[in-house]
Amino acid sequence: MNLLESLKKWGQEHLLNNLEVKETSKQDSILKEIQSQDFELLNKLFLQHSKANDTSKNSSYSPLSFQLARDNSQYKMWEETGEVLLRNSQVAVFLLAGGQGSRLGFEGPKGAFDIGLESKKTLFQIQAERIDNLSRRFGASIPWCIMTSPLNHQETIEHFTKNQHFGLDPNNIQFFQQGTLCALDEKGKAIQDKDGHLALVPDGNGGCFRAIAQSGNLDWLKSKGIRYVFMYGVDNLLTKIADPAFIGALATDGRALSSSKVVHKKHLNEKVGVFALHNNLPTVIEYIDIPEDLRNSLQDDGTPLFDGANIATHLFKIEALQKLQNTPLPWHAARKHVLEEKNAWKFEQFLFDAFPILGSMTLYGVSRGEEFAPIKNASGEDSPASAKRLLGLLHRFWLEESNVKINPKMLYEISPTLSYAGEGLNQRVFDQELAKNILEFPADFE
Ligand code: UTP
Repeated sequence: MNLLESLKKWGQEHLLNNLEVKETSKQDSILKEIQSQDFELLNKLFLQHSKANDTSKNSSYSPLSFQLARDNSQYKMWEETGEVLLRNSQVAVFLLAGGQGSRLGFEGPKGAFDIGLESKKTLFQIQAERIDNLSRRFGASIPWCIMTSPLNHQETIEHFTKNQHFGLDPNNIQFFQQGTLCALDEKGKAIQDKDGHLALVPDGNGGCFRAIAQSGNLDWLKSKGIRYVFMYGVDNLLTKIADPAFIGALATDGRALSSSKVVHKKHLNEKVGVFALHNNLPTVIEYIDIPEDLRNSLQDDGTPLFDGANIATHLFKIEALQKLQNTPLPWHAARKHVLEEKNAWKFEQFLFDAFPILGSMTLYGVSRGEEFAPIKNASGEDSPASAKRLLGLLHRFWLEESNVKINPKMLYEISPTLSYAGEGLNQRVFDQELAKNILEFPADFE
């Protein structure tokens, strides 16, 4: 079947309109975009979702409980086990950085945005320095897989190249792109911009399992003897990358194939997904999908019944990634503003749909103040300023715990090259490093 016929079959022949009047190079790139798309799948998703009367959101959810890991009597043993795995270079890191970050309103990669830290470091730099800290401390090689999308791939690579990969070995970092799906208009037609290019949007963070395998990077990790892959979202300023105790806890659990960090919800209406059991299998219910009566349910002690917030920090055994590369995840539909189209259809896969497929997982409770400072919006809640404050408070707390005399009117930013999680700090280090690797800023900085 030639291209026109196959496009006709799926009602997308408009994509070839006026193609012949464009320059050859433009024609080629548009044709490439068209050929990259699975219009049969798009057609199926459109028909499914445009007719759907969603019945999946019933109330057969039950809460999934969790404990703070630090309160567990095994915590020290987990930490030591994780350190051994890091020392043996059996842990890799997988960054999900293919999102569009539309709420932040920055066109480029979120990880390269100046989030207003005193040091002017970007999220990418902070993350690189945490990896560097662990690599040095444990003499570990920690491969870093970075998933981008075609919309931010080049800029991401440029940010790393311009900054000499923040001192990391470039051979140990792999950049690869996730897939995209074309957004559709109300009638199910693929949307084009005024130049004829397709309105391609990333296929969701669940595209990561396909992308790491198809790019050859799952094989790359296997060839290096990697057994655990720490996977995380780009926009949490406090992510403890490759956290040893988190790794040790999964490594000593003979049953589970993955583990996820979880924090208590801040309040009933916090816009986060929550962990739950659905038909007895672990999953996450997205904020918009949680039925209101469940969202508002309280336990006897007044805390939310569905209290375990997903902070997009996960750990997978390599066998899990192997299994997931060939297991299709469901598609979710969203209505979004795309180009001129106010109510376009966008289809995405979500990472957490892997959990019911894997069947058993563990939840690893952590404290919000130590590990969760999301950057989603330009201002207000979950913004660069709120994340900077949370980091400033945490680092001040580290100094106080280390008996350092600090100025209570100030907050602190400690370089991850100096301390990963509060270790190695004392008065002498503070005096030496102030205005270098320890920066102070007024608590009322906003
Ligand atoms: P979000 O759900 O916050 O989406 O992503 P987003 O695209 O970054 O931001 P908005 O909603 O447009 O404002 C959570 C994590 O998943 C990654 C993001 O980069 C972030 O680390 N992600 C999201 C992907 O890697 N690919 C996607 O297709 C979507």
